[in-house]
Amino acid sequence: MAGGGGMVGSSGGTEFEAKITPIVVISCIMAATGGLMFGYYVGVSGGVTSMDDFLKTFFPVIYRKKQADYDSNYYCKYDNQGLQLFNSSLYLAGLTATFFASYTTRRLGRRFTMLIAGIFFIIGVVLNAAAQDLAMLIAGRILLGCGVGFANQAVPLFLSEIAPTRIRGGLNILFQLNVTIGILFANLVNYFTVKIDGWGWRLSLGLAGIPAVLLTIGALLVVDTPNSLIERGKLDEGKEVLRKIRGTDKIEPEFLELVEASRVAKEVKHPFRNLLMRRNRPQLVIAIALQIFQQCTGINAIMFYAPVLFITLGFGNDASLYSAVITGAVNVLSTVVSIYVVDKLGRRILLLEAGVQMFFAQIIIAIILGIKVTDHSEPDNLGSAYAVVVVVMICTFVSAFAWSWGPLGWLIPSETFPLETRSAGQSVTVCVNFLFTFVIAQAFLSMLCHFKYGIFLFFSGWVLIMSIFVIFLMPETKNVPIEEMTDRVWKQHWFWKRFMEDETRDGSTKGDGSSRGHESDKGCWWTRFIPEVSLNFSLSA
Ligand code: BGC
Repeated sequence: MAGGGGMVGSSGGTEFEAKITPIVVISCIMAATGGLMFGYYVGVSGGVTSMDDFLKTFFPVIYRKKQADYDSNYYCKYDNQGLQLFNSSLYLAGLTATFFASYTTRRLGRRFTMLIAGIFFIIGVVLNAAAQDLAMLIAGRILLGCGVGFANQAVPLFLSEIAPTRIRGGLNILFQLNVTIGILFANLVNYFTVKIDGWGWRLSLGLAGIPAVLLTIGALLVVDTPNSLIERGKLDEGKEVLRKIRGTDKIEPEFLELVEASRVAKEVKHPFRNLLMRRNRPQLVIAIALQIFQQCTGINAIMFYAPVLFITLGFGNDASLYSAVITGAVNVLSTVVSIYVVDKLGRRILLLEAGVQMFFAQIIIAIILGIKVTDHSEPDNLGSAYAVVVVVMICTFVSAFAWSWGPLGWLIPSETFPLETRSAGQSVTVCVNFLFTFVIAQAFLSMLCHFKYGIFLFFSGWVLIMSIFVIFLMPETKNVPIEEMTDRVWKQHWFWKRFMEDETRDGSTKGDGSSRGHESDKGCWWTRFIPEVSLNFSLSA
């Protein structure tokens, strides 16, 4: 890409010797089960909230509305803040928990943080499946949210750090693969449990116990990453693990690089404050933008509410879950595509190709709905040919998301922050992701009610904006060792390199003794508006 691409050039850098050892592959598979849980809860909620017994028990008002005759406005049937709060409480809890998880990933390690996540999950699942009232249901969901916060903090970091550079993208995407398997599994479970009278929803919520137990066992069995061990001063253990996972004795260069990264990391007393320093701004801006953009594709409008959406579109109860299973399967398969190509084609191509695909799919959906679904249409009004086109377009959209913004939203932040700010950076990543997931989850049913088909035009506008962002501001990170990103990516990028002047850890620029205030004068004008507040979290000290 001329100018805008900032492709990693031949600017040197090391190729560390590393075999693809069974221990790496098995550790990654186990750790990635953290994604199963996240996905299961993304997928299970939509189906459960459209089950009559569930609605009767916890949301009788909506149940009555649903039973009302077909005169009601189809776009507005499920617009209920309580129902939306059930969905989004998970994300509010998760985004708060991630700041605590930042501390544990840094101080106690990636592995221990995954274990904490597993325990939260198990307690949360029990409360949810046994829920007697709304309070118990929400309490369980909050605990699950804490679990997701801890898991999404630790798992992507674990995968990016333990993987050999040349397959880092693919191994990291195992996390997202598990997210999609979780969603599919949940859709399948719902398809059957909806037929069980009375307690089907309990089974749906309770089966999350399987991924919860898998993650807990996985966390007990895996080794921690050498980066984390070395960062916590366990040099010998770190070296031993490095030798084991790389399958060779020639690990000295990589070991020294990790020791150096950890020396630098130790100088940092306040990772969150450090994150706001000028030289960390490119990673921070990109991590935040990626999360906002990932959610503004509108993916979760489809994932959470696919069953509700399909009913709203007149597909009927059974067909709706069936369609959700189809989108779930497309989601899994397309993520596998991403695993294969991400380290060959690179991150940018995937994001750009998907942008085109998502844009057109959304426009076509909007046009069909705009023409065919009126506010008070009968349930079968869409017509089967149009209904098929809508499902195909939804699948087109989901597949594009699944090989681009889905996995890369988690991969890129986990591989671009330097060790010194990696935990803090990941926690901001998770926090912003959940915040926007929350906003979309909370707003979607109301937006559908008011914007109607226009909601898909709204999301397509965002897809356009994010694609332009990628063209100009997203550097390529494939095949760059994780502790060499600064030299080989940021310092080479046409725009971001201006943030990379040699700066001391306390924020002043080397040589001229300039202060932070002075040094930010040298940036482009808009960076002055990014606050430089000192977020002096005592936890991160
Ligand atoms: C996103 C989730 C989304 C899922 C869909 C993930 O990467 O973070 O919000 O539900 O992909 O597969």
